[in-house]
Amino acid sequence: MKLVTVVGARPQFIKAAAVSRAIAAHNASSGGPNIHEVIVHTGQHYDTNMSAVFFTEMEIPRPDHSLGVREASHGAMTARMLEGVERVLLAEKPDCVLVYGDTNSTLAGALAGAKIGIPVAHVEAGLRSYNRRMPEEINRVVTDHVSTLLFCPTQGAVDNLASEGICHGERAGVHLVGDVMLDAALFYARLSGDKSRVLAPGTELGALVEGGNRDFALCTVHRAENTDDPARLEALFRAVGQVAETMPVVLPLHPRTRKKLAECDMGGLCSQPGLHVTEPLGYFDMLELLKACRLVITDSGGLQKEAFFFDKPCVTLRAETEWVELLEHGVNMLAGEPVSRLPEVCGELLSRASDFTVDLYGTGVAGKRIVGILVDAFPSEK
Ligand code: UD1
Repeated sequence: MKLVTVVGARPQFIKAAAVSRAIAAHNASSGGPNIHEVIVHTGQHYDTNMSAVFFTEMEIPRPDHSLGVREASHGAMTARMLEGVERVLLAEKPDCVLVYGDTNSTLAGALAGAKIGIPVAHVEAGLRSYNRRMPEEINRVVTDHVSTLLFCPTQGAVDNLASEGICHGERAGVHLVGDVMLDAALFYARLSGDKSRVLAPGTELGALVEGGNRDFALCTVHRAENTDDPARLEALFRAVGQVAETMPVVLPLHPRTRKKLAECDMGGLCSQPGLHVTEPLGYFDMLELLKACRLVITDSGGLQKEAFFFDKPCVTLRAETEWVELLEHGVNMLAGEPVSRLPEVCGELLSRASDFTVDLYGTGVAGKRIVGILVDAFPSEK
């Protein structure tokens, strides 16, 4: 079968790496028809440390098509990607187009396929924040409703789809496969100790773990709802600074956030005592920080789960999360309002006895399951 994979933003490179590895394993061992994967990079994330580093570290096959779409309004960005992906699909004539997550690249890939009658397969289907002001929520809902195969990471995601009339059984396209991010975390965490120098002795961050100390928080901030209102951005960074007064905070700074801080002349908030701001980091570095830290503070969807994979409590810098099972199991707390309460919320979460043994996201074989389902659905020999 022939598959066109559409990626563009950092978390998609990680998810696609897990599935591409499963495809390679299938091709090496099945004895049946191979899967021919054609990779399209929309260009949404383009800085070396937001894009190329992931292809290199995770040994993702190089993109066959790079659309070079750069920042623009949501509409313009999605429109340019839609046009570019459609051109690729018409030329490549795949059996299926595979999209990941909830970004503008996801939406463009899904719409392009659906409009010209190429079945769409959505990895990470069924997630909902039920907050329609988030661009990601619009992307999720639309993508799910035009997809033929919906690969859900959790039972909650299957249930969400059912409540929108996309039913398991009734419409056989819905599959509970587990989370491809767990596949990636388990595989690459075995390599990251050798590959990463982020905590090497003698470095700024290495000093945080001297003598076996593990008392720091790992923090990321990039969501539009946190970055685009200057008052909110300032309050949030001041709250993180307050946490850093008692526990060092490592904060790899997303380009969106860096840009917004600079525009509002608030770059000084990155120099608060105890706050260690870095450039965006590669996956191996993030895995080493996750293994070593005591607490995660983030508005990222992926990092909330990765915190759980590495047994770390997580405070989510949002009003809601689509990963509700983490809240239900008490390993994640929403920061809530006002955000100045962040130090208290961190303290409350750290004082809880959290249980990380529960199986929420499968066993790390989601990629293999996805490949098996694709092969059954498209048994051709392209
Ligand atoms: C996007 C996704 C979000 C995902 C996140 C992961 C959408 C709507 N949002 O948000 O779901 O969690 O990626 O990071 O698709 N920029 C750079 N260099 C880069 C990439 C981006 O400078 O390599 C700048 C862009 O120019 C833009 C800003 O960062 O000004 C935001 O980038 P954008 O792709 O719009 O969205 P993200 O905030 O990264």
